[in-house]
Amino acid sequence: MAIVLISTSQDIDEWRQIMGRLLPGVELRAWPEVGDAGDIDMAITWKAPAGALGSLPNLKLICSLGQGVDHLFARGDLPAGVPVVRLVDDSMRRQMTAYVVAAVLRRLCRMEDYAASQAERRWQALDAYDPAETRVGVMGLGALGGDVAEKLALLGFRVAGWSRTKKHIVGVDGFAGKATLDAFLGACDVVCCLLPLTSETRGILDARAFAAMRKGAYLINSARGAHMVEEDLVAALDSGRLAGATLDVFRTEPLPEDSPLWSHPKVTVTPHASSVTLARSCAGQIAENYRRLKDGRPLINTVDPAREY
Ligand code: NAP
Ligand code: GLV
Repeated sequence: MAIVLISTSQDIDEWRQIMGRLLPGVELRAWPEVGDAGDIDMAITWKAPAGALGSLPNLKLICSLGQGVDHLFARGDLPAGVPVVRLVDDSMRRQMTAYVVAAVLRRLCRMEDYAASQAERRWQALDAYDPAETRVGVMGLGALGGDVAEKLALLGFRVAGWSRTKKHIVGVDGFAGKATLDAFLGACDVVCCLLPLTSETRGILDARAFAAMRKGAYLINSARGAHMVEEDLVAALDSGRLAGATLDVFRTEPLPEDSPLWSHPKVTVTPHASSVTLARSCAGQIAENYRRLKDGRPLINTVDPAREY
């Protein structure tokens, strides 16, 4: 009876301390030192190496160490029949909402332009804007996007949201389904992507989508790099179709040194840091799922393999 942590980005000592308190008597092992692989009944993992999950013969539950699960479904070596759960975490929600709101306000309050003016000691007010006349669109209205949309509406922005099925959030105009995508994109001054990466959403931010957006719209992508066709984004920025972008995620991470995005004057790059898994916040739900597994009770934060999210 043991859990294995498969991740290079987490501190095993911290996890052992916290999980030891939550699940006394359950050993937490760190990949690749699994000991007898037959002891492992749950894996908590972020980007496990190929074959790692399949090498655990008694695995009964896989937990993504992030809110996203594309790192599990895109790989093709997920053991059949083993349920997958993910994190749905309050801290990650707060972090993401703060990141997106910061990016929206930085853009709309013209902070970059004023920083440039300050550097030249130039006192020059730019055109004013009214949040109520500015529409921010959120793609994906789940655990993260739903909160972002709600908080932007509370700040006084006009907010639109796009999801697979219709959502009703106070202050948010709901668009649902593929057929409404162009109308949604064309209605927004700022578009923020918080979709999961699935077969349906891969490459969704491409030349076609940029052509459907308002001229001079601004893009924020803090979901997954593969939602976006980077070459199409650069072309849309260079042609002036899009005014700029704040990007937290990239097709290849770390972003290669020779990527044009690093030095593009209209792009802000952050290193996949908008919302980070904190053991102290997430461990509780992982322990809860382990207890449920042991008791044969329904799991929480389950993922539907058919939907891929
Ligand atoms: P979630 O709760 O699963 O919500 C997903 C939302 O996307 C739902 O509203 C869903 O629609 C919608 N959606 C899914 N497929 C769609 C489609 N084909 N067309 C239109 N809408 C679609 O996900 P979450 O927890 O909010 O997380 C979203 C993503 O954020 C994660 O998958 C991950 O990739 C990313 N993320 C990034 C970071 C970071 O640090 N950059 C951190 C955490 C998460 P329905 O409501 O109709 O199901
Ligand atoms: C991070 O990218 C996550 O999916 O939690």
